[in-house]
Amino acid sequence: MLDKKYRDEAIAISKHDLSSLPRTVGWESPSNIALVKYWGKKGFQEPINPSISMTLSNMHTQTRIHYARARNDQGRMWLRFNGMDNHPFGQRIQKYINSLATYFPFLKKLDLHIDTRNSFPHSAGMASSASAMSSLALAICSIEQGLREDPLTTEHFSQKASYMARLGSGSAARSIYGNYVEWGQHAYGSDEFAHPYAKKIREPLSFLHDSVLITSTEPKKMKSSSGHELMDQHPYRQARIGQALSNMEKISRSLRDGDFHSFSEVAEEEALSLHALMLASRPGYTLLRQATIEIIDELRSFRQETGAEVTFTLDAGPNVHVLYPTREKERIREWMNQKLKPLCEHGKMLHDFTGTGPERLHNGPS
Ligand code: PMV
Repeated sequence: MLDKKYRDEAIAISKHDLSSLPRTVGWESPSNIALVKYWGKKGFQEPINPSISMTLSNMHTQTRIHYARARNDQGRMWLRFNGMDNHPFGQRIQKYINSLATYFPFLKKLDLHIDTRNSFPHSAGMASSASAMSSLALAICSIEQGLREDPLTTEHFSQKASYMARLGSGSAARSIYGNYVEWGQHAYGSDEFAHPYAKKIREPLSFLHDSVLITSTEPKKMKSSSGHELMDQHPYRQARIGQALSNMEKISRSLRDGDFHSFSEVAEEEALSLHALMLASRPGYTLLRQATIEIIDELRSFRQETGAEVTFTLDAGPNVHVLYPTREKERIREWMNQKLKPLCEHGKMLHDFTGTGPERLHNGPS
C-alpha cells in the first residue's frame, strides 16, 4: 500500500529545486531491544509476526549527511563508518542508500558525504543495524522534507522514516519512536511501519534499566538475515506465529497493569524461544555461550532468593540484557558487579535504559 504511495510521491516531487544546496542534516537514533521478537519475514522485509520493543538511550548512532548538487547531476557517495572509510558495514549502508533511490530519485543527483558513528564500539558484540539504519532513514527523509514544497506532518514524516528504516533492517523500523514500540499486524498495527505503543503504562514498567552483559565480542556465526530465512521452512513456524500473537496480548496486559512478573514471563519465554528456533532450524545453530547460560541461571537463583524485580532478554547473540526498574537499581548493580561481571568478556557491561527516541542534530560534527 505505502510502497505505491511513496513511489507516486517520488515521481510527483522529482522536480525538486536543488538550488538552495549544499546543506547538512543529522540525526541521532537509538538501538532497541525486542521483548516479543521479530523472527521470520514475508514479502519484502515484512514480519511473519508482530513484535514489541523498548527503545534504548545510550546505545545510539549519529548520522550526518552533507549534500550538494552533483556536477552534471551524476551523484557520488562518500561514507565513513565509525571514523573509517572502508568499514565492511559501510558497504551495507551504501547498498541500502542506493536501494532508496526508488523513493528518493533526487539522491542520484546529489553528492553525499555520510558520516555515521555509534556511541558503542562496533566490536562490543552489539547489533548496530537498528540504530544505524534508522538514523540513515531519518536523515534521508529530512533531506526530502527540506526539498518538498508541502512538508510532511510530524506523524507522516515518522511513518515514512519507519517504513524506510524497515527496508534496511526490520528492527530499525521500531527505533524511530521512543519508549515501547510495536511493529506488525495483529489486532491492529501494520507490517509496513512501526508505531508507538499507545496505551497507558503503569509503574514500574514505564521506565526500565537495561544492562547489557557482554559475553562475547566475536562476530556472529550466522547473520540475522540467514536466521530469518530459515523460518520460511521451519518445522515450528506456525506455532511460533501463534506464540508471538499471544505474547503480544500478554505483554500488553502486563504493561497496562504494571505487572513485572508477567512481563518477565513473556520476556524470558521470547528470549529462549528465539534461541530454541535457531537450535531447531534446518540446519540448526547456536549463538548462546556457556557464560550466557550461567548468567541466566545466576539471575533466576538471585530472583528466587531475594524476590527482586529483575528479568532478562536476549537478542540474536550471546549477550544478556538484564532488565530492572529503578527501585531495584542499587541491589541489582551490586549483585551484577559481584556475580555477573566476572562472567563477562573483560568484565564488560553496558548500562542503558528506556529512551525517548531519535533526535535531530542541529550543530556541526561532535
Ligand atoms: O532487524 P534484523 O533483520 O536484524 O532482525 C532482528 C531480529 C531480532 O533482533 C533477533 C529480534 C527483534 O525483533 O529485534
